[in-house]
Amino acid sequence: MTLLSVSNLTKSFGGIVANDSVSFDLNEGDIYAVIGPNGAGKTTLFNLISGVLRPTSGSVQYAGRDITGLAQADIAALGVVRTYQLVQLFRQRTVEENVQIGFHLATRGGVGAALFRPGWVRRQERMVREKSRELLRLVGLESQAGLVADKLPYGQQRLLKIARAMAAGPKLLMLDEPAAGLDTQETSVLGDVIQRINDQGITIVLIEHDMNLVMRMATRITVLDFGKKIAEGTPVEVKVNPAVLAAYLGEAELE
Ligand SMILES: Nc1ncnc2c1ncn2[C@@H]1O[C@H](COP(=O)(O)OP(=O)(O)O)[C@@H](O)[C@H]1O
Ligand SMILES: [Mg+2]
Repeated sequence: MTLLSVSNLTKSFGGIVANDSVSFDLNEGDIYAVIGPNGAGKTTLFNLISGVLRPTSGSVQYAGRDITGLAQADIAALGVVRTYQLVQLFRQRTVEENVQIGFHLATRGGVGAALFRPGWVRRQERMVREKSRELLRLVGLESQAGLVADKLPYGQQRLLKIARAMAAGPKLLMLDEPAAGLDTQETSVLGDVIQRINDQGITIVLIEHDMNLVMRMATRITVLDFGKKIAEGTPVEVKVNPAVLAAYLGEAELE
C-alpha cells in the first residue's frame, strides 16, 4: 500500500530551484533512501514533506490524505516524524529522561497535571517510564539509561535521538544523514537499529551519504541532482545507472 506520495514537488529560494518537480511513491514497510550530491535538495525535500517549509507547487499525500502545507505539528501528529541534526539532546539530563521528554512532548500533560498529579497522571508517568525503557532496549542503550546524555559517545547520542523520535509514535520515520560522523562500527550498529525499527512495521525514509549503508538497507532509492530526480529504483538498478554515476563523478561515493 502506498503510504507517501510526493507529486511534482517544487521549492524555489529566489533563483535557486532546490526541488524541481520531484515525484515518487513509497510503500508501507519500505526503507526508502534519498541520495544525491551535496546541495541536491535532499534536506529541502524532507522540510517540504514534514511541513517545515511550504512547497512553491506540488503536493504531498500521506496515508490517503493531502498534507501539503499543513503545520509541522499537525503532520507529526499524523505520524510523520523526523530527527533533526540540529535539535540537541538535553545534555545534562539522563539518557532515560531524554526519551521520557520525547513522550511528554507528544502527550502534553500540562503544568496543572504535573503539579497535582492526579491518578491518570501517575498512570501516564508509569506508562512513560515503561515505554522509555522499551525504546532504550530497541536502540541498545538500556544499560546506559542512568548516564548523563553528555557522557555518551557520539554514535550513541545519535541512537538516543532516534529513540526520542520514536517516542512521538511515528508511522513514517524520516532520518536525515543518521550515519554522518559515525565510524564503521557505529554505522553498522545504526543499521541494525534502523532494521529493528522497520521490523516493527515503521516505514523509513533515509537521506544518507554512506553508500554501504544505503545499498545494504534500502528497498528503493530516489536520486536527486540539482533539485531534480535523475533516477529511481532498487539499489542494484541505481548503482549501475549512468546518470547516477555521472552525478557522483568526482565524489567517489559509489563503488
Ligand atoms: N532556507 C533556504 N534558503 C535559501 N536557500 C536554501 C535554503 N535551504 C536550502 N537552500 C538551497 O537549496 C539547495 C538544496 O539544499 P539542501 O536541500 O540542503 O541540499 P542537500 O540536503 O541535498 O545537501 C542548496 O543550493 C541550498 O543552498
Ligand atoms: Mg542535507
